[in-house]
Amino acid sequence: MNNDLNLPRRPGLIRGLLIAASVAAMAALAPGAYAQQQAKLRVGLMLPYTGTYAALGTAITNGFQLAVAEQDGKLGGREIELYRVDDESDPAKATENTNRLIKRDRVDVLVGTVHSGVAIGMAKVARQTNTLMINPNAGADEITGPLCAPNIFRTSFSNWQPGYATGKVMADSTHKTAVTLTWRYAAGQQMVEGFKEAFAKGGGKVLREMYLPFPNVEFQPFLTEIAALKPEAVFVFFAGGGAVKFVKDYAAAGLKDNIPLYGTGFLTDGTLEAQGATAQGIVTALHYADSLDTPRDNAFRTAYRKAYNMEPDVYAVQGYDAGQLLRIGLESVQGDLKKRDQMIRAMRAAKIDSPRGVFTLSSAHNPVQDFYVRRVEGKENKSIGIAVKALADPARGCKMP
Ligand code: BEZ
Repeated sequence: MNNDLNLPRRPGLIRGLLIAASVAAMAALAPGAYAQQQAKLRVGLMLPYTGTYAALGTAITNGFQLAVAEQDGKLGGREIELYRVDDESDPAKATENTNRLIKRDRVDVLVGTVHSGVAIGMAKVARQTNTLMINPNAGADEITGPLCAPNIFRTSFSNWQPGYATGKVMADSTHKTAVTLTWRYAAGQQMVEGFKEAFAKGGGKVLREMYLPFPNVEFQPFLTEIAALKPEAVFVFFAGGGAVKFVKDYAAAGLKDNIPLYGTGFLTDGTLEAQGATAQGIVTALHYADSLDTPRDNAFRTAYRKAYNMEPDVYAVQGYDAGQLLRIGLESVQGDLKKRDQMIRAMRAAKIDSPRGVFTLSSAHNPVQDFYVRRVEGKENKSIGIAVKALADPARGCKMP
């Protein structure tokens, strides 16, 4: 689906003549003017627009488009043309969907995606085709681990990072036993690994790890088991529609006031409107919060509200920062993608002035960033402290060429 600013569809011959005429006209221009006439930069947004992660895909798209709109529709002097694919959070379709953007739509840059399993497929194609890829959410550790590459960047987090930060928060809260529950795929499994590392360091013990298939939301048997095990606390990863249902079910099962529920911040981000009273008081850790109250974040939130008539969330911030990172790269080469090495050097060295706070990228191209402790109050994930400052992913297995 091509999003905007497209040539109208015309029969092949007429379209061919139009292109030939415009090439001749451009050749007649002075060299400086010719530079300003560079073709539009084709950006492929591969994101979920349906299913449990649909709202996340929309928020990322909104954030990215806001970053472009703030530059009057141009990044590094190049007009931006968006091509979108709904990846349906389906890893089985990842290769085909990525190839469609690269081969059919001939995109210059890939931006995507949300689901870790889909992102792994996407990154493999990006590596094989040497296509520039900016990942605005999916946390798959592999992307900035064994699959790391000069052309692959992430503006979000590795799954290990929020898992580790939340484990630290729980251990600091003096809980000594916990049960974990999540979807059985890379995001859930890797966040649990990060959680266990920090929780064990703080003297905590995991009584049981429980999993259900993605994107199932039949939580009842697990809630019954949690009640029987009586851990001091529960750690979960759920996001989007699944997070809304889990938080409501946890409260309905009568567990909310008896066994404190913690999660990586995806549990309550972008979901509070739907979760209402059932989410109040839940403590999470994430690299963004609703109440940072910095001039940078306030300006972003005001602009986002004005553009979309809704509150931004962490996904919107990550999409916005994907746009900022691309802008930094393109500005360094005045929009000339042929200077790819120079552009990549600039992206690598970027200091991104994010609404979350300024962050840099590790040598594996993953954000080095603060993780906030947040507590749900009303419709906000209020920051109540810092869980870990400047947390860097260990980037296990990354051999950056
Ligand atoms: C993931 O699959 O990596 C993911 C999806 C939603 C929120 C966070 C991570």
